[in-house]
Amino acid sequence: MCGIVAYIGFQPAAPIIYKCLGKLEYRGYDSCGIAISNRDNITVEKDTKRVAALQFNTLPLDGKIGLGHTRWATCGEPSRANAHPHVDCLHKIAVVHNGNIENFEELRKALVGEGHIFTSETDTEVLPHLIEKYYEGELGQAVTRAIKDIRGSFAIAVICAGEEKVVLAKQKSPLVIGLIDKEYIAASDIAALLDYTDRVMYLEEGDVCNITTVGIELYRNGVLTELTEERIAWKPADTRLGGFSHYMMKEINEQPRVITETLAAFEGVSEKLIGLLDPPENRRTSLLMVGCGTSYHSALVGKYIFEELIGRPVNVELASELNYRANVIADKVALAISQSGETADTLQAVRRIKATGCKMVCITNVEGSQLSRLADLSIYTKAGPEISVASTKTFIAQVALLYAICISHANIDEILKKDLERGLGQIPILIRQFLNEQSNIETLGRYLATFNNVLFVARGINYPVALEGALKLKETSYIHGEGYAAGELKHGPFALLDSNTPAIAIVAHDRTYEAMLTNIREIKTRKAPVIAVVEEGDKEVADLVDIVIEVPHTDPFFSPMLNVVALQLLAYYTALERGCPIDFPRNLAKTVTVE
Ligand code: G6P
Repeated sequence: MCGIVAYIGFQPAAPIIYKCLGKLEYRGYDSCGIAISNRDNITVEKDTKRVAALQFNTLPLDGKIGLGHTRWATCGEPSRANAHPHVDCLHKIAVVHNGNIENFEELRKALVGEGHIFTSETDTEVLPHLIEKYYEGELGQAVTRAIKDIRGSFAIAVICAGEEKVVLAKQKSPLVIGLIDKEYIAASDIAALLDYTDRVMYLEEGDVCNITTVGIELYRNGVLTELTEERIAWKPADTRLGGFSHYMMKEINEQPRVITETLAAFEGVSEKLIGLLDPPENRRTSLLMVGCGTSYHSALVGKYIFEELIGRPVNVELASELNYRANVIADKVALAISQSGETADTLQAVRRIKATGCKMVCITNVEGSQLSRLADLSIYTKAGPEISVASTKTFIAQVALLYAICISHANIDEILKKDLERGLGQIPILIRQFLNEQSNIETLGRYLATFNNVLFVARGINYPVALEGALKLKETSYIHGEGYAAGELKHGPFALLDSNTPAIAIVAHDRTYEAMLTNIREIKTRKAPVIAVVEEGDKEVADLVDIVIEVPHTDPFFSPMLNVVALQLLAYYTALERGCPIDFPRNLAKTVTVE
């Protein structure tokens, strides 16, 4: 999704902006651009190229103030004209924008009527023209006036020829300022800043801020306000490949460490959380969980875990669906899950849920994210930056946290509690063992790469794993993967089965085992090849199916955490065989900041 960068300081701005834009590439983009201000001129370079190609193909730009942008097209196709930065008629004001201006058509019509000339199809272009219209010699005031006309979401950075400042404004879309000595870099997320600083300030809704080399002047609700400085825990090396050929593989391999660190950090907040989840008046109330994409799947695992172990009802909602319900039905506490903490749909759902008076707990990977600021309590996955668009390590960290929350919340006998804690603590070791010893997934990936459709089936606690396996396959390899509850096959998907549609069955040794065997037999009868993800040594399934992927033995309650790793690897190797851009799939974005 669009990423913005702005720099002001005493160094040449362009190389810094290009480097920061490079760090935002993972968010997903189709074009990029840069604007550099030098005294009375603003130079803009933009194209439908990668950031490195734009930098390589343009002459060096001189100036110590500038803006950069990676665009993920929402309004107007990817093209040079639609790429940001956008400028006013006189080419004196340049703007980069992340978000969505809902009333741009009426604004544009009025501005055209007043003589403004537009050169793109974007919603963003109304901004430089509005700012131009209201400009009376001071950029900050013109921006403050212009955004009053705007409906929608925006994080903007604006520069003006002849003014030595960058103006920022934020409404719903993310924006953070990195502080260096007398230099400032603003960006859509902290990954862009890691190479330069670990000191940051986060903007809040409605903030407008003027940055000069002398300092930051922040207006909150029109009042001059001090911003608080915070520290980022992530290190620059966390965003590098570290010897792997893809981030996805690096991140899959980081999972054992990520689980261990996430669980260790949870110990610090566990009591606070239990206080919120479990006062006597809450115990019989349902827990609402919301998320999108992979985070929604981890919430679904959470539903099975909570209902299995403590019998507390959990309702899981896709944030994008909940947002258009007439009524939000929430009890006392709700849980929002989001890797980035910036997904627009999830944030909107959280606002709606909070408006009912419900307390909000969030699980997120990004400290300082908008979600963590909205929540009453934040629990962090300690996954470090996740660069690959397809989430892997953050999924497992979210699920590990849900187990930990559920176990510490459970009103169960101490011996069982200790056993479960031990079982969960063993998972990183078992995943490491699996990653070191698994031998046939690469070959299987080559085999799967020859098909156009793949069915993922499971029951019970592994049903969300089937959904997640299918999602991983489609986003990385562009093969149509469909996750299905195995018991539902007979209600439709059976019609699809033939020798060209393999099924991947995830089989756990729990109460669903026999039913899964029956479903596998039914699939085999329809001539579909079956690959099963099973616990090591499961002869019965091995004899029934064509190929097995064996994962180490664990309590079936924890089996999703091992089974999902097998499916992540399978998606990776299938995508590799098909020559897909594994980390940055077409049309997808890592952080989805529009609804
Ligand atoms: C995008 C990403 C997915 C992610 C989803 C939700 O679609 O590509 O990997 O699962 O957003 O993101 P969140 O940051 O809220 O977990």
